[in-house]
Amino acid sequence: PLALGKDVLDKARREGYAVPSFNTNNLETTQAILETAEEVGAPVFLQISDGARKYAGLENLANLVRDMASRVSVPVVLHLDHGADYTMVLQALRAGFTSVMIDASHHPFEENVAETRRCVEAAHAVGVSVEAELGRLQGIEDNIAVDEREAFLTDPEEAQRFVAETGIDYLAVAIGTSHGAYKGKGRPYIDHARLQQIARRVSLPLVLHGSSGVPQWLKDKMRATGADLGDPTGIHDEDVRKAIPQGIAKINIDTDLRLALSAGIREVVVNNPKEFDPRKILSKGRDYLKQVVREKFVLMGTAGRA
Ligand code: G3H
Ligand code: 13P
Ligand code: NA
Ligand code: ZN
Repeated sequence: PLALGKDVLDKARREGYAVPSFNTNNLETTQAILETAEEVGAPVFLQISDGARKYAGLENLANLVRDMASRVSVPVVLHLDHGADYTMVLQALRAGFTSVMIDASHHPFEENVAETRRCVEAAHAVGVSVEAELGRLQGIEDNIAVDEREAFLTDPEEAQRFVAETGIDYLAVAIGTSHGAYKGKGRPYIDHARLQQIARRVSLPLVLHGSSGVPQWLKDKMRATGADLGDPTGIHDEDVRKAIPQGIAKINIDTDLRLALSAGIREVVVNNPKEFDPRKILSKGRDYLKQVVREKFVLMGTAGRA
């Protein structure tokens, strides 16, 4: 059934595992996520981005997720990913979301606090949990100067103040991850020491965006069907695993799902030039989605926690 974000994440941080928050844009992705969650007995977040809203419609996706969630036994959180402003948050509340993110992290600290606070007031008035972000997501080079790093990574003392002044339920932190399939050269730098400093001052569940791994098997499948990917890199599984006992309880994944669905579609289309039944074209992608989702539940220790 549908569950509250705060209930799912407080338990995760307390018990030392994390819950993946998967972006969905369509039926097939939603099916893959919920079927796998049910199979492995894992709580899960499904999150709707701005791009998803523009592609499929907020109401369409919200209704789809809510209906499908009502028919699985595991807790499912319907979450607004990177809510742009107060208006967007209100629209999500009206559409039945059980968790919303207000992302005002590009504003100066005081404005971020003010915008986040009014979203918290509205969401909490109707019992919905809130995520907000402090710091800016950006890949960081190994040789970047310390003061440059300080400029966009989350400051532990600011994080403590931000939580106290806003009343949020979980905090997204910037520790070196970034969105997309190109997170830097080699093994992207993750500031685990900073994460520990933040977790010492903030007892709320912490959230890690930009956490896709860009796994080799998906790169191979994409390239085998002629995809031109350049040199994509993700976050190493070991860096994700290490962040969980340090306080990370929600981990956002989109890019790996995009790769999985695309790889399956490409395989069918390229190898079967006569095929034009969209259901056949999409089902292999759905199988690969299920494989990725299963791997994330195992990596994050979510399986069996429902
Ligand atoms: O945070 C970014 C997510 O990957 C969603 O991106 O707005 O293009 O769907 P999108
Ligand atoms: P990835 O691009 O690493 O999958 O991150 C997704 C994300 O953080 C969505 O909020
Ligand atoms: Na989010
Ligand atoms: Zn994000």
